[in-house]
Amino acid sequence: MASSRLMALLFIHFLPLALAADKDAFVGVNIGTAVSDMPNPTQVVALLKAQQIHHVRLYDADQAMLLALAGTGIRVTVSVPNQQLLAIGQSNATAANWVARNILTHVPATNITAISVGSEVLTAIPNAAPVLVSALQYIHAALVAARLDSRIKVSTAHSSSVILDSFPPSQAFFNRTWDPVMVPLLKFLQSTGSFLMLNVYPYYDYVQSHDAIPLDYALFRPLPPNKEAVDSNTLLHYTNVFDAVVDAAYFAMSYLNFTNIPIVVTESGWPSKGDPATEPDATIDNANTYNSNLIKHVLNNTGTPKHPGVAVSTFIYELYNEDSRQGAVSEKNWGLFDSNGRPIYVLHLTGSGTVLANDTTNQTYCVARDGVDRKMLQAALDWACGPGKVDCSAVLQGAPCYEPDTVAAHATYAFDAYYHRMAMAEGTCDFNGVATVTTTDPSHGSCIFPGSHGSNGTFINGTSLAPSTNSTSSGSSLLSFNSNGYVSFRGLVAVLLWIAVFL
Ligand SMILES: *[C@@H]1O[C@H](CO)[C@@H](O)[C@H](O)[C@H]1NC(C)=O
Ligand SMILES: *[C@@H]1O[C@H](CO)[C@@H](O)[C@H](O)[C@H]1NC(C)=O
Ligand SMILES: *[C@@H]1O[C@H](CO)[C@@H](O)[C@H](O)[C@H]1NC(C)=O
Ligand SMILES: *[C@@H]1O[C@H](CO)[C@@H](O)[C@H](O)[C@H]1NC(C)=O
Ligand SMILES: *[C@@H]1O[C@H](CO)[C@@H](O)[C@H](O)[C@H]1NC(C)=O
Ligand SMILES: *[C@@H]1O[C@H](CO)[C@@H](O)[C@H](O)[C@H]1NC(C)=O
Ligand SMILES: *[C@@H]1O[C@H](CO)[C@@H](O)[C@H](O)[C@H]1NC(C)=O
Ligand SMILES: *[C@@H]1O[C@H](CO)[C@@H](O)[C@H](O)[C@H]1NC(C)=O
Ligand SMILES: *[C@@H]1O[C@H](CO)[C@@H](O)[C@H](O)[C@H]1NC(C)=O
Ligand SMILES: *[C@@H]1O[C@H](CO)[C@@H](O)[C@H](O)[C@H]1NC(C)=O
Repeated sequence: MASSRLMALLFIHFLPLALAADKDAFVGVNIGTAVSDMPNPTQVVALLKAQQIHHVRLYDADQAMLLALAGTGIRVTVSVPNQQLLAIGQSNATAANWVARNILTHVPATNITAISVGSEVLTAIPNAAPVLVSALQYIHAALVAARLDSRIKVSTAHSSSVILDSFPPSQAFFNRTWDPVMVPLLKFLQSTGSFLMLNVYPYYDYVQSHDAIPLDYALFRPLPPNKEAVDSNTLLHYTNVFDAVVDAAYFAMSYLNFTNIPIVVTESGWPSKGDPATEPDATIDNANTYNSNLIKHVLNNTGTPKHPGVAVSTFIYELYNEDSRQGAVSEKNWGLFDSNGRPIYVLHLTGSGTVLANDTTNQTYCVARDGVDRKMLQAALDWACGPGKVDCSAVLQGAPCYEPDTVAAHATYAFDAYYHRMAMAEGTCDFNGVATVTTTDPSHGSCIFPGSHGSNGTFINGTSLAPSTNSTSSGSSLLSFNSNGYVSFRGLVAVLLWIAVFL
């Protein structure tokens, strides 16, 4: 004991890095409001409370929203919208007014903990870049004058595209065009004890890589050791894109000699729906896998290969599907909930070993992968119904799961039966790579799959929920009603309660 403590002390002493590893990471959500029937602030806050969501980020400083958040204890990051940035960056008085109107009137009732001054300014409105640092300084000066600077941190959210050459992460650097902004900005963050805000989108990295990045690597799925990415300079192993991007940001900062600025990921997520032709990877299953794994990863305080154990708190993008957003189908489908507060999918937070032993999600099924070799599928089906000892009578002619009479459909039944007989243990849904886990119940008509709770999954306590996954069921599901009539996401509740214990 004593010697290990001594070791720890020595380590702390000799580590050049001053990043503190003593804080636990949190998971929050972004609240975008491009929703055609946007719930009113009271309804939004009811959903947050029902879900035990303790950290939110707003894209503005909406008065009604901040009033509704008063007294809830929810930590709030507010934003200076990009349209207001030029005015604030050019005038100390305008900044002071903004703070007086949007912050001073709300604290301490509303627990505002950070201000994001603009969003992706360097890439979205580069014309405002020259005044970005002044804007942060002016806002900060107003907080100092109000003695709120220790409670409210000032920063600005960056697109990860300001970081170039991000793999291997050790070679990453900020686009040099922006050095005249980045250097004083990092000085500001360092001297005020603030953090770098970074938006991390493995979805776009994956899509833009044209298959150079494996989907599993973007989704935090386990990779065979020979497929893990190794940074040849540091010999650090990267098992997912998220960590690689965050480490690229740490390296880019240290390239400019800033080694003690923490990172908060202000946006990360995965769209649950996209144009089938052009956005085939924007699916419910991928979104669920990404966000579930992201939550587990963040809350585990895993840190990154460069800074293991250093918290990387993360805001999921986003609370609601924003149906009023322009652009591709996926743009409208990043939400965890629809505007009625119904979950788009049920996060699966089990199987993470020690992270959430308490989580009650049993909502996973094992199905045949799309587009895999038919012979391999047949071989796996034969194995499951033979040596695998699965009862395959349900797929025999005349039995409920005979139709559709395809190898894929029958294999799906056999795989799922096997997976559930093996208590959904890690590694029991693989079948040489032709099977995959899903949260969508493959049951249809009278063909009820093992693990399905038999109901059509749309009725809880007599009320139709009909989540779009069509796969929820009563009882063991994550869904339940609370007194507000909102759907409660027990998984997230468990997670966030779990965080609360540490706060
Ligand atoms: C506000 O948030 C800060 C930072 O998380 C926390 O330390 C403080 O206790 C919170 N205050 C209230 C009143 O909830
Ligand atoms: C800017 O305003 C703050 C108060 O908001 C004040 O303390 C500070 O001195 C001002 N700075 C300048 C350069 O005018
Ligand atoms: C760096 O930023 C400048 C200004 O936005 C941009 O024109 C340039 O393409 C960027 N460089 C790279 C390699 O992306
Ligand atoms: C970083 O520090 C090193 C060593 O002190 C120095 O040589 C280098 O010029 C510095 N780089 C920057 C960008 O300040
Ligand atoms: C949690 O952290 C431990 C040690 O930090 C690590 O071994 C484990 O793989 C992590 N689990 C997840 C799900 O990230
Ligand atoms: C579930 O959570 C409760 C309270 O948080 C705890 O007392 C209990 O030990 C947990 N059970 C498991 C199996 O982790
Ligand atoms: C599911 O719903 C359909 C139509 O509402 C019904 O015919 C079917 O019997 C239901 N299945 C179960 C298992 O309840
Ligand atoms: C819903 O469940 C609650 C408690 O379990 C019960 O009191 C209530 O009557 C139920 N409502 C309906 C419509 O079944
Ligand atoms: C469930 O899914 C089936 C097939 O995908 C669809 O036909 C049905 O309308 C869905 N039911 C509900 C209640 O969403
Ligand atoms: C989840 O599955 C495990 C193992 O199959 C079972 O012991 C447990 O009771 C299930 N939990 C719920 C809530 O259904």
